[in-house]
Amino acid sequence: MKILAIETSCDETAIAILECEGDEKDARFRVLGNTLLSQIDIHRKYGGVFPALAKREHAKNLVPILEAALEEAELLHEDSQVIPEETRAKISEILAREPGLTEAFFEFVSECERPAIDVIAVTAGPGLEPALWVGINFAKALALLWEKPLVAVNHMEGHILSALAYSKDNTLTINNVALPVLALLISGGHTELVLMKEWLKYELIGQTRDDAVGEAFDKVARMLGLPYPGGPEISRLAEDARRENVENPYVLPRPMIDSGTCDFSFAGLKTAVLYMLKDKPDLSAKEKQHLAHEFENTVAEVLWKKTAQALEETGAQTLVIGGGVSANTHIRRTFGANIAQEYPDVTLRIPAASLTTDNAIMIALAGFYRASRKEFVTDITANGNLSLAKKP
Ligand code: KG4
Ligand code: ZN
Repeated sequence: MKILAIETSCDETAIAILECEGDEKDARFRVLGNTLLSQIDIHRKYGGVFPALAKREHAKNLVPILEAALEEAELLHEDSQVIPEETRAKISEILAREPGLTEAFFEFVSECERPAIDVIAVTAGPGLEPALWVGINFAKALALLWEKPLVAVNHMEGHILSALAYSKDNTLTINNVALPVLALLISGGHTELVLMKEWLKYELIGQTRDDAVGEAFDKVARMLGLPYPGGPEISRLAEDARRENVENPYVLPRPMIDSGTCDFSFAGLKTAVLYMLKDKPDLSAKEKQHLAHEFENTVAEVLWKKTAQALEETGAQTLVIGGGVSANTHIRRTFGANIAQEYPDVTLRIPAASLTTDNAIMIALAGFYRASRKEFVTDITANGNLSLAKKP
């Protein structure tokens, strides 16, 4: 099964084409084409993602990256096409709210043979709704024109599955997954612990009561005068501080660490940094390093403590970390060392660095399982708050 997957939930426009084989117990994926355009440079001057701008950029980027992905997959064959008037009218209606996309779309598809793909998968949520809609409408237009079935993907399921996949001989494989799986999902919009007792069935074990952990990284970075996105910047300063190995004068609170629940809170931590900076508005470069170091240590400690509690409560056999913040070196290292020491029977799976932040490969992985279950849809609505799991 060849899947073409589209991701536009936030500030990355991405399309991937994967050849998928096997079944739910043992699936293999070969990446035939993978393209991604990051808008980080555009949003940086606003200090965060600006939804209207993200929407406009997705609309501009989708056709060029579709062409690039098809070309890379050797599925692009030029040939002029006659598009029936009725189809053209329906597609114009679907794309009516995406300025500029309609013309680019028709220009491209009028010169391109229907490619040999089997399914189109697209992110339906969670994310920024104006951004999600662009990808969804584009997917619907392609599915209509090329007469391909469509599946809607939950972005967070993509993060979990890309963490479960391991890479060998240019192939991603998902097999031998010991259930239950506990997933710690940490990104710009999410911080949650989700349990998968049965394959692709989810239960919410804990979540943030306020800010997401990536959001805390980004906000603290902004307070320290660092550019967006702040996660990698904080991480870089903290690693410098660790290398120098001098005593850190700062101590931050560990929010909710002894609350007895698997819920998180990061707003208090952010406020604690804000108060510290009020007392000391002109931090030196060294002091910033130390503060970044203490902040990152605090986050890693809280994430680990809550995850360990969830492991105890659920008896999970596999632990997965997914989402943009799982790129963080210190968090990866902390979890690796603690699992080896305290839970040697639990398998830890963390995505390859290239799959941690948003991409379309992860959407194709989730799309494969949804298509295998024949969960095809004719219409999709963007849902910014789409959730994977409810509290049991
Ligand atoms: O999953 P993702 O790419 O987008 C969302 O779905 O939100 O996550 C983006 C978040 C941002 O907040 C960014 O600062 C954070 O992931 N991030 C990191 C690192 N790389 C990205 N946070 C900490 N350390 C990193 N190395
Ligand atoms: Zn994400």
